[in-house]
Amino acid sequence: MDIKKKLLDKGFVFIPKWQPSTKIDSLAEQLGNVIKISDYEDHSGIPDVQKIIPKQRSKSLKNQYSGKFGLDSFPLHTDLAHWSKPPNYLMLRCIRGFEQVSTKVLPLKYILPQITELGFARSVVKPKNNERAVRGCLLPLSFQNNNQKCIRWDSLFLEAANDKAELIQKFILKDEVWDMAINIRLVHQGDTLIINNHSHLHARSSIPNDCVKRELERIYFN
Ligand SMILES: [Fe+2]
Repeated sequence: MDIKKKLLDKGFVFIPKWQPSTKIDSLAEQLGNVIKISDYEDHSGIPDVQKIIPKQRSKSLKNQYSGKFGLDSFPLHTDLAHWSKPPNYLMLRCIRGFEQVSTKVLPLKYILPQITELGFARSVVKPKNNERAVRGCLLPLSFQNNNQKCIRWDSLFLEAANDKAELIQKFILKDEVWDMAINIRLVHQGDTLIINNHSHLHARSSIPNDCVKRELERIYFN
């Protein structure tokens, strides 16, 4: 399938208005094995297909992105970075979109020379204290999958556990790194973005007040 090839070659693929009436899980099943989030410990309440809508800070749980950032931009991150092996792919599908909001995608290769110099291979992180994290275990910031260099990073669920990880965390949060990311806009129903969650970080731009009705669906697969 062309999409699979593009995903392997490029690490992410945007498909405008892709079969808008087909369910996200059927589409993901064509590409890989859908991850049943609810099978994982501490994740039983999370549906396998998640609805993503912007929320004000005050209306969200503190351990969620919206609870910390509200309608502001979300920093670059890996989804489920605190898992021993985060899901390989995430698929985002537009239900209701706006031109003013973008999803940002940052290929690891864009920052690999800089973070290699900062000690990427020897960086370790640990889950922050929250009920969904695997408490107490150290995780490598870098890992391998199919001989490919991969990264996990998430400033909400993880914290640096050595000085190298701290330097890399500071680097990833720099404006110049934010500006390197590719902007993708999910605007029309069915607009679909699939990202390799091991080799790419992603983020969300801020949500203007007139775009709060934005609605996406998300699913993970390997
Ligand atoms: Fe995310």
